[in-house]
Amino acid sequence: GDVAVLVPAAGAGVRLGPGAPKALRLLGGEPLLVHAVRRIAAAPSVHTVVVAAPAADVDAVRALLAPVAPVTVVPGGAERQASVAAALAAVPAGPEIVLVHDAARALTPPGLVESVAAAVRSGHDAVIPVLPVVDTIKEVDAGERVLGTVDRSALRAVQTPQGFRRAVLAAAHAAAGDPLTDDAGLVEKQGVPVVCVPGSEHALKITRPFDLALAEYLLTTGA
Ligand code: CTP
Ligand code: MG
Repeated sequence: GDVAVLVPAAGAGVRLGPGAPKALRLLGGEPLLVHAVRRIAAAPSVHTVVVAAPAADVDAVRALLAPVAPVTVVPGGAERQASVAAALAAVPAGPEIVLVHDAARALTPPGLVESVAAAVRSGHDAVIPVLPVVDTIKEVDAGERVLGTVDRSALRAVQTPQGFRRAVLAAAHAAAGDPLTDDAGLVEKQGVPVVCVPGSEHALKITRPFDLALAEYLLTTGA
C-alpha cells in the first residue's frame, strides 16, 4: 500500500450525549473506533494507520486496536484540526498519499477508502467524497427570517475519507490559521483544486443519538 490514513478520534462526542468519548462508544457491542479501523485496514491500498485518541485514553486505545490492525496511536488535541496535525506528524517516511477519516464515520466501506485513494493516485492533489443535498436549503438571518432559497443543485454534503497528496496536506496544515472542521477547507485556502468523488450513505457521521440508532440498524443489515 501507498496510503497512510489518519483517524481523528479524540473528540468528546458532546452531541451524542453523556458517556465515554464518542470513538469509544459502542455500536453492536464494539467501540466506533474499532469498526472504523477494521474497515480502513481492509482497504488494500492502506499501508499505515495513525489514530489520534483522547489524551487520557491513549494506552487503552492502543490495547483496543492491537487485535484489529497494526496502528500508531498518538494523543489528539483540543480541536479536530490539532488532532489531525498530531496524527500527520506521526506518519513515517513512505506513503505519499494521506487520507483523513473521522472515527465517527464508523461504517464507511473499504471501497470508499479505495476510490478516494485511487483518485489521488490518478493525479488529483485533493479529493473529497460527497453526496447530493436532499433537503431544500434556506439562508436565514439572526431572527430566523428567511433571506432566500439556495440552489441546492450546486451544493454537496462532504464526507470523509478526504484524500491528499502528502506534501499538499502537510503544507496546508503548516499554514493553517483558525481551526476548520475539514482538511479540504485548509487545502482550498492554499489555492489547491479539490475534486469530488461519489460518497456513500454508509459513511454517515455518527453525531447525534439518531445517527447511532441508524448505524445499529445498518450493522444488522451487514454494513
Ligand atoms: N475529533 C478529534 N479531536 C477533537 C475533536 C474531534 O479527533 N478535538 C474527531 C472526533 O473524534 C471525530 C471527528 O473528529 O471522529 C469528527 O468530529 P465530531 O463528529 O464533531 O466528533 P466530536 O467532536 O467528538 O463530537 P461533538 O462535536 O458532538 O463533541
Ligand atoms: Mg466536534
